[in-house]
Amino acid sequence: MLLLCLGILLQLVVQPQCCATSTKMLSMENIELLISEDEIKSKIAETARVINTEYKGQELVVVMVMKGALCITADLIRELEVPCEIEAVTASSYGQRGTSRGELKISGVDELNLAGKNVLLVDDIFDSGETVWQIVKRLKEKNPKSIKTFVLLVKNVERTLDYEPDYALFHIENRFVVGYGLDYKEYYRGLRGVYAFK
Ligand code: IMP
Ligand code: MG
Repeated sequence: MLLLCLGILLQLVVQPQCCATSTKMLSMENIELLISEDEIKSKIAETARVINTEYKGQELVVVMVMKGALCITADLIRELEVPCEIEAVTASSYGQRGTSRGELKISGVDELNLAGKNVLLVDDIFDSGETVWQIVKRLKEKNPKSIKTFVLLVKNVERTLDYEPDYALFHIENRFVVGYGLDYKEYYRGLRGVYAFK
């Protein structure tokens, strides 16, 4: 009984601190809206119409890059009229580092069967472009019939890479953004729009 009381007391003391930490992490005061939910939705619908025409009579494998492409993929596939399979690969270069880049790790490609298929790779943002480009190179080794790339955002930065995504919904200035799948240390992914730190 004494132990139970101590346990409850401990929880009461510790819990407010956890909440305070996550409230601070998710503070909306530090961020400002760049692209609204409605703008994203209508741009997805517009681009999906182009994709539907382009792949009419064919099938598609949508390969999403976890975890950032979670929201954009969920909304895109509901606008697609071509039959599509959904697959996922994982890429991470930021993780708990927040806004500083680490080593790019890609996993999940080996398990995919893409031979002879039309592949649409979906990612959240094209910054240096390395992530998308490295995954495209890995996917090409699987002998797909075709491979195109679709990104929510392209950052306006100088790139040495000689590759551009086939479909890009929005071009933004060089700021760190969160929301609609994009994270800062794994937080903010659930925001309905795209936000930038002030
Ligand atoms: P890239 O390889 O430089 O093109 O970076 C692409 C990956 O880095 C994206 O898939 C994101 O996961 C992450 N990233 C780049 N810029 C941002 C940002 O502004 N906010 C959140 N994640 C970002
Ligand atoms: Mg990503």
